[in-house]
Amino acid sequence: MEQIKKILAACIAKHIDGALNEEEIINLMEYPADAKNGDICFPCFRLAKAFRKSPAAIAEELSGKTELPACVDKVSAVSGYVNFYFTSVCYTELLSGVTFDGDITKTGEGKTICIDFSSPNIAKKFHLGHIGTTIIGNSLRNIFGYCGYKVIAINHLGDWGTNFGKLICAYKMWSSKEKVERDGVVELERIYAKFNKEAQENESLNQDARDAFSELEKGNAEYREIWRSFREISLKEYMKTYNLLDITFDSFTGESFFTDKMPAVVEELREKGLLKIDDGASVVDLSAYNMPPSLILRRDGSTLYPTRDIAAAEWRKKEYDFTKCIYVTSAGQSLHFAQWFKVVELMGYKWAKDLIHVPYGTMSFNGEKLASRTGNIIYLDDLLDQAVEKAEKIIEEKNTTLEDKHGTAIAVGVGAVVFNALFNSRIKDVDFSWDTALSFEGNTGPYIQYTYARSCSVLRKCADITESGAGDYGRYEPNSDEKRLVKQLTLFRGKVQSAMNDCEPSVITRYLLETCGLFNQFYHSSTIIHAENETKLFRVALTSAFKVIAGRCLDLLGMKKTEEI
Ligand code: ARG
Repeated sequence: MEQIKKILAACIAKHIDGALNEEEIINLMEYPADAKNGDICFPCFRLAKAFRKSPAAIAEELSGKTELPACVDKVSAVSGYVNFYFTSVCYTELLSGVTFDGDITKTGEGKTICIDFSSPNIAKKFHLGHIGTTIIGNSLRNIFGYCGYKVIAINHLGDWGTNFGKLICAYKMWSSKEKVERDGVVELERIYAKFNKEAQENESLNQDARDAFSELEKGNAEYREIWRSFREISLKEYMKTYNLLDITFDSFTGESFFTDKMPAVVEELREKGLLKIDDGASVVDLSAYNMPPSLILRRDGSTLYPTRDIAAAEWRKKEYDFTKCIYVTSAGQSLHFAQWFKVVELMGYKWAKDLIHVPYGTMSFNGEKLASRTGNIIYLDDLLDQAVEKAEKIIEEKNTTLEDKHGTAIAVGVGAVVFNALFNSRIKDVDFSWDTALSFEGNTGPYIQYTYARSCSVLRKCADITESGAGDYGRYEPNSDEKRLVKQLTLFRGKVQSAMNDCEPSVITRYLLETCGLFNQFYHSSTIIHAENETKLFRVALTSAFKVIAGRCLDLLGMKKTEEI
């Protein structure tokens, strides 16, 4: 499609006296919503000033003058637009080029990008608050990877901080190795909650916790060992969820990894004259940038979340020499990122501009904030289990011949959750609803996977053609449903590009949904398996192109490709 746009832009450029260059013309081109207005159109509104004429008059003139390239057999002027109509041959040629993606996969070549995502806080169960970063982050990783970048997927585990002082104290008072091994993270949550409750009555507990954390930072062997076991147990539970979602990481360098790297960072900040003592704590003043100060060291000398992020960024730059380092977290952390990005800039690092925060909207439940303290909480493994169970039940009812029923149920159940998490533009706040999350009808993951499986089934039945190659369908005249689907498939590359530029996987979910709609329309209106000659060749090739593009989208979103449902 890019090729055709270029050809048309060159034709138009000849008649507008340089008022717009070819690239500007291409960027202005649109796809008319209604096929009766052609396949591509060029709006003339931007030319009105230069030509001192109405857009309608300019469109009229241009449509009369422009000589048509071979791929176009008609041109019309309607309400200020020049509409171009493609020939049938043009469509068959477009179809043959649909699955080519060489340009896309070159854009990131030789560049490394770090994506920091998921990053739960250990000793806490994985709950819905982290679903966004986990699923959006994973999809971005796939999208950048598809565009040729070398992606380093980093799980910056929240495994350091004063809360571990509390946990260690609580553990020594009320728990044991056996209990933690038996009940896992649930036990850690129990003693943490108990500690907070008791500390409300007994303020000295908080001082004990601060002392314990300070000891931990200094390297107290007993505390280190307890902390290590908390980390191990938490990670073991998270891995189950990651395995179910089929998400992997290249690195688990969490906050604790940077403990021995922080003194140097603090020293550097001091040397560069950025540290200021404020009530005993060390901070970087950001009032000139309308932000509260960035906290680097507490009064007792212990480090904070921003300190660890600055240390991590410096380390990643050295280790990976990234062209970009992306952080996917809820919008609630936007200020935190803006602050420490600024500190890195003030430290004089040019690469501060390559640090990018990708925020997403918050998730609530029953209109209220998710919080374990109030019990308003949904655990991710409960959600995934229920989704898989539901898929299993439906598969059991509908199809008894399917070989791998359980595997399919996992693919469909998990796919439903993933698609739902990626459906809205990421910044939108969402009130979680069990009904929507577990819905398999309408605009859902299962609908997409079902449509994908439908295309696979058609192709299995046309194996004689698919195995011998598509054959020559060059003279076939596509009907309007087929044209729409071909055109839709050609848009794939542009969609990947914009999903990448905006770090917005919902561009792909929306596109995939529309594409499946058009495929189903084509499937219902056209005989494929029992068609003949060129008609069959063209339709099988179209089905096959759909399968390739839909399959790529599923890969980008992190959903399984179901050959059979
Ligand atoms: N652990 C944090 C949380 O759960 C997210 C960490 C995000 N990454 C980072 N480098 N700060 O809120």
